[in-house]
Amino acid sequence: MRKQLTVGSLIPGRSDVQMSSPAPVPVYTPLKKTEMSPARPKSEQKLVQVKQRSQTMPVQYTPSQTLLQAALTQDQPIAYKCQQGHCGKCSVQIVAGASLLDTPTGQEKAKLGEKLATGYRLACQSTFRSSITS
Ligand code: FES
Repeated sequence: MRKQLTVGSLIPGRSDVQMSSPAPVPVYTPLKKTEMSPARPKSEQKLVQVKQRSQTMPVQYTPSQTLLQAALTQDQPIAYKCQQGHCGKCSVQIVAGASLLDTPTGQEKAKLGEKLATGYRLACQSTFRSSITS
């Protein structure tokens, strides 16, 4: 039979009931920097900075998508029209991260000509590389 506990029976010395020791107090040990996982995977931290009409916008690396598709998905207001490489309205200057993009397409070469050498691309035609290393 189980012994019934009352408030008075819990007073030390008034009962033969064994009281368990207090629960162990957890000890907080801060993680070392090397033990913490990164906040985001590396692929999410890769950015291309594009400039269009004096506005600079970051576009996250999105494998195999066009720069325009990725920018619009990420709510970056890149101006565009035809989406076929004809009008040139989506022309942007790559400020940083150009290595994340594939080489210029024939349409970009035809439309942009010498501007390609100064970092201009057609956002609707330039695609992110399917994979990157490092
Ligand atoms: S939207 Fe016309 S060339 Fe890109």
